[in-house]
Amino acid sequence: MCGIVGYVGEKKAQDFLISGLKRLEYRGYDSAGIVTIDEDKNATLVRAKGKIKNLEEKLAKEKRDDKIGIGHTRWATHGEPSERNAHPHQSGSIYLVHNGIIENYKELKQELGKYEFKSETDSEVLAALIDSFYQDGKYPLTNAVVQALKLVKGTYGIAVVSALNPDEIVVARSGSPLIVGVGHNETLVASDASAIVGHTKHAIYLNDGEVATIKKNSIEIKTLNAEPVSAKVEEIETNLAAIQKGGYEHFLLKEIMEQPESLTETLRGRVRTEEGIVHLGGPGLTEAELRKIKHLIIVGCGTAYHAGLLASYYIEQFTPEITVETVIASEYRYRQAYIPEDAVALIVSQSGETADTLACLREIKKQGIKTIGIVNVIGSTIAREVDGGTYVHVGPEISVASTKAFTSQVIAMVMFGLTIAQAKGVKKSVLRPYVLEIAEMPEEIKKVLGNVKDEVEKIAKKYAKYEHAIYLGRDTAYPTAMEGALKLKEISYVDANAYAFGELKHGPLALVDDRFFEVAFLPEGALYEKAVSNVQEVLARGGHVLAVTNVEEFDLPVENVVKITTSIEIFAPVLMNLVSQLLAYYMTVAKGYNVDQPRNLAKSVTVE
Ligand code: M6R
Repeated sequence: MCGIVGYVGEKKAQDFLISGLKRLEYRGYDSAGIVTIDEDKNATLVRAKGKIKNLEEKLAKEKRDDKIGIGHTRWATHGEPSERNAHPHQSGSIYLVHNGIIENYKELKQELGKYEFKSETDSEVLAALIDSFYQDGKYPLTNAVVQALKLVKGTYGIAVVSALNPDEIVVARSGSPLIVGVGHNETLVASDASAIVGHTKHAIYLNDGEVATIKKNSIEIKTLNAEPVSAKVEEIETNLAAIQKGGYEHFLLKEIMEQPESLTETLRGRVRTEEGIVHLGGPGLTEAELRKIKHLIIVGCGTAYHAGLLASYYIEQFTPEITVETVIASEYRYRQAYIPEDAVALIVSQSGETADTLACLREIKKQGIKTIGIVNVIGSTIAREVDGGTYVHVGPEISVASTKAFTSQVIAMVMFGLTIAQAKGVKKSVLRPYVLEIAEMPEEIKKVLGNVKDEVEKIAKKYAKYEHAIYLGRDTAYPTAMEGALKLKEISYVDANAYAFGELKHGPLALVDDRFFEVAFLPEGALYEKAVSNVQEVLARGGHVLAVTNVEEFDLPVENVVKITTSIEIFAPVLMNLVSQLLAYYMTVAKGYNVDQPRNLAKSVTVE
């Protein structure tokens, strides 16, 4: 969603701010702006609606050598996307950029009677509130920020500068991430590490309730209650190559194609094929604690939810003694669900910042239930708040549509399930096939991607004329169908929905006509024949079926078939999902839409 950058040092702040904002573009935004301040206390504020190139065009007439500044990409919450609503917001000498939502902004606005507001945003109210405490520099900027934040209800990551002190930035967070990059004679601020990668390898991840006063050679952190915090400087693991397209036209295709490597990273050091076991250190549960688990609750949104659902089908197969329930975070946070004591919750999130998922985590922790994170972004809020966790280590996922994270989330959760099963003494002969297939997955993914890519591209061109699609599957192929439909709808804007094959006759079969095409996932296995009968029912009604299968002698008279040739059986649906990813990608390219930044969406959904 919104992105923050900040710079204080010896270089031109405008250059860093623009390059940082470009790196945050993937998060989704509708306007952008920066402010820089020169040594004579003159501020240059430039904002623009739309893409960063619009901001750059305006900046061409406002080039400055200023050594301090802050910038922002905005994803509208309060007020339409427009220049006036774009950040930074100014009040007196104060300039502020803000991620999050100030819930009590209307009350605060009333109390700030003397101020005239130029935007419809909650953020401008916070700028005015800070200004009211700052009193044109009568009090230190940090004190003014702290006083203001004490009155605020809601979530925020903020960076504030004053034209009157052109050597410091004050940043603070509560529920919205902020990172301070520690450089040589310069200090950087970003809401996401990708903005500072390549400038420094060292960063401090602020915690909720902390405020930092940042100068080019110093960082002083305190809590809102003025207690000093001794900050831990951590190493940023990401490198520049990981956030560049590396020769691909789009990040999405790059991320689809790099799944052999990203899954290898997920598995590194965790799979012992000779012994037929997996070993996960991160969750930090003892054998006795693992043995006690009777219920698993898996919490996530969107793709993370689908990954959890798919993993739950697998975990149930080999751990008969536990129940697994996968829930949508935005629903679960308001349910009055009883969680038994012998439960563990898996909190699944690529970004580690999703507001609903984070709210569930906090709620579940309050109930005394152990929480385990299945997270990608290192140092993210969820990763830091869970009791234990397993990073999926897929590297930065830039495209809004989640692909490589899904594959690794599924496998990481299955590995957690295997860890429980091992502790509970499930026979090795039951678990070994899972472990061996997991170890083979990266190589098999590589094979499948190589074999089907061009074929799926051709099929996608044919199907690009459709505006409606139905994805169908049974058992483990059902969550696969759900994820496939989400991928297609979010980037190609095709109205795609998924159904369990068995549900067809209960309603969706009525949809089948020439406006729709159907994607049928047909993995070999006990339910294959039943699924085939369902496909026959669709065909009998004139359906335009694209079948995805690993059955060699597949001979149904469907319009198109993508055959997956692989030694993998159990996890064949995970491989079939690669076809969905490629289909969504190529259909979107054929339709001419923005692949990596679909309209209305943001990469990391940090507001409810
Ligand atoms: O960062 P998270 O995994 O918590 O994000 C959850 C969803 O917002 C995310 O998976 C979303 O559905 C993607 N756009 C799907 O491709």
